[in-house]
Amino acid sequence: MVWLHTTRDRASHAFADEVDELIASLPHATAHYVYTADGPRLSAASLAALRLPADAAVYMCGPDSFMVGMREALVANGFDPASIHSELFGARPRINPGAVGAPEEAHPHVPDGAPGTGPAVTFSRSGLTAHWSPRFTSLLEFAEACDVPTRYSCRSGVCHICVTEVVSGTADYTQEPLEEPPAGSVLVCSAVPRTELVLDL
Ligand code: FES
Repeated sequence: MVWLHTTRDRASHAFADEVDELIASLPHATAHYVYTADGPRLSAASLAALRLPADAAVYMCGPDSFMVGMREALVANGFDPASIHSELFGARPRINPGAVGAPEEAHPHVPDGAPGTGPAVTFSRSGLTAHWSPRFTSLLEFAEACDVPTRYSCRSGVCHICVTEVVSGTADYTQEPLEEPPAGSVLVCSAVPRTELVLDL
């Protein structure tokens, strides 16, 4: 059994210690971790270097765009498409009142216009990292400019519909919420990044 995991860095590596422990407890298991902060992303070439057995069954989980790329890379390495199974770890459905008629299936992308020079903001479910720019008034507005699916209603720190888990990093409120959201989360309609940020969006 080969366990292959890619993420930004060890800090954003979900259940890293638990996986290490489980892999160590299995007699013929190996793990490979690819941290994109340290080097290139997974590709057909880097998969080839791992010398994975091409007759193996593959179980993939991740954002849609990631899995499309990995499927192509695996097939290029001789894997049978029928043996590649996937489960979408995708963005949550939008809740955007008043956004009737907006294109439904836009893919996340860095905002149009000049790239930002602020802290990197990663939308982990959407598989996108972009640099913050102060031309946006909130993380919600920034996510919208990236076509990252969002949830909101009041846009003023009252309804808590935009509450989002902070995987890592710190945000500052530009308008204080009526009530603080649970620890480890942020109201993206009312906050901007203070440091590099990874959001569960
Ligand atoms: S949208 Fe209502 S609190 Fe953010």
